[in-house]
Amino acid sequence: MSKSKRLSGQTENQKAGSGKSGIKRVYKIALGSAAVLLVGVLAWLPTMDLAGAPEITVYKSATCGCCNKWVDHLRDAGFKVTAHNRQDMNEIKKTHGVKYQHRSCHTAVVEDYVVEGHVPAEDIRRLLDGRPAISGLAVPGMPMGSPGMEGHYKDPYEVIAFKKGGRDSVFSRY
Ligand code: CU
Ligand code: CU
Repeated sequence: MSKSKRLSGQTENQKAGSGKSGIKRVYKIALGSAAVLLVGVLAWLPTMDLAGAPEITVYKSATCGCCNKWVDHLRDAGFKVTAHNRQDMNEIKKTHGVKYQHRSCHTAVVEDYVVEGHVPAEDIRRLLDGRPAISGLAVPGMPMGSPGMEGHYKDPYEVIAFKKGGRDSVFSRY
């Protein structure tokens, strides 16, 4: 009689014990997910506006498909893009000092720099990091395989660093 009572008592204690450890486990899981969340937020911070998503203004014609693809390429690379459809692209290029031999479809402005044509986002990042004394970057024409010009083949192409009243140089080669 007393033996069975003790047994049932033990069972109740065990139950109570498992209940407590159950609560502990919930706390542990909650703490664990909070830590994971915190790590996630910290990893995400550098790509946010706080850490400076570069703002770039793009001028293009409304019917330019490869221009839209280049805009998508910039957005995918974390740029904050404002795109304007314009009909006076030649005038815009002239205003921004884009020489004839450098001209392409769209013209963009990022901080004090002009970006002409299908310049890869990583070159624009390098431009903003290094801040060289140039007017801007250009990928003349529309080489196949440049960002926004993906297709069945790739043309080799150069990103030209140009300077008002100065000499051109090669900023990168693809
Ligand atoms: Cu284009
Ligand atoms: Cu374009």
